[in-house]
Amino acid sequence: MFFMKNLQGRHLISPNDLSLEEIRAIIELAHDMKRNRSKYSTLCQGQILATLFYEPSTRTKLSFESAMLRMGGSILGFSDANTSAVAKGESIADTIRVLGSYADIAVMRHPREGAPKLASEFSAIPLINGGDGGHQHPTQTLTDLLTIDTYRQRLDGLSVAFCGDLKYGRTVHSLIETLARYQGCKFYLVSPEELVLPLRQKEHLVKKYGSEIIECRRMEEALPHLDILYMTRIQKERFFNEADYLRLKNSFILDAEKMKLAKSDMIVMHPLPRVNEISYEVDRDPRAVYFPQAELGVYVRMALMAHLLGVSK
Ligand code: CP
Repeated sequence: MFFMKNLQGRHLISPNDLSLEEIRAIIELAHDMKRNRSKYSTLCQGQILATLFYEPSTRTKLSFESAMLRMGGSILGFSDANTSAVAKGESIADTIRVLGSYADIAVMRHPREGAPKLASEFSAIPLINGGDGGHQHPTQTLTDLLTIDTYRQRLDGLSVAFCGDLKYGRTVHSLIETLARYQGCKFYLVSPEELVLPLRQKEHLVKKYGSEIIECRRMEEALPHLDILYMTRIQKERFFNEADYLRLKNSFILDAEKMKLAKSDMIVMHPLPRVNEISYEVDRDPRAVYFPQAELGVYVRMALMAHLLGVSK
């Protein structure tokens, strides 16, 4: 009932590769996998996941690995390109061609925008984008949607603030584009002037989806109106100079005092890792759901891989 045959064998490079119906099928399967984990413990027996991480990761890499292991499959891969033949100058195309005979499905993270898309063109197995530069992070978006569905029981008609680094934050770029496809979502963009959402994406959201967008320079302006506050860290690794990073890194810090301005049922999300943009005291607030969000990432990746591999229960 939760399974969509037409996802079998496909790549996932951008959230737009999935229709809203396909996203719903993945979310419903993920809910069921969370409720009845043991039912799926042999679903991927004999299947191998390759994790190709050219950039650091904790959650994406390990939750993919956990997801495959929890379904009875196996894993291989690298988390440092210098330990692979990439260090000898091998191209992404050659790497992925070879991987097709070693694994059944692969996830790739790369600092260069478009690298997973290029890899998918040479891949004989489903290739999932695990984050490319400041561009897209589709499985974080699926994680975020499952989290919203779990805590708000809907994906439409939501008031959502994105706060922090909206220029380089790939999780923001992917999630805002996807939520815009649902009816009636309203977006508050809270960032320093230097880290606003790229104009091209903002114009696209308004033109294509008629999105309502309100830009704020202070978190306090948005907080009373929100169903969801999506916090992000300032992306140090994407800055060209340390001075700019140091100047902007404390721009927005969510603390218990600011949480008093929010509705009692607002939820605080964050893709993690957190640096200092959410004070530790907020962790005790029941509205803080960023750790359950990271856990839900395992179930949504289980559901995604089951669909792409065409295995069902
Ligand atoms: N949210 C996320 O992508 O975390 P990692 O960088 O740890 O994978």
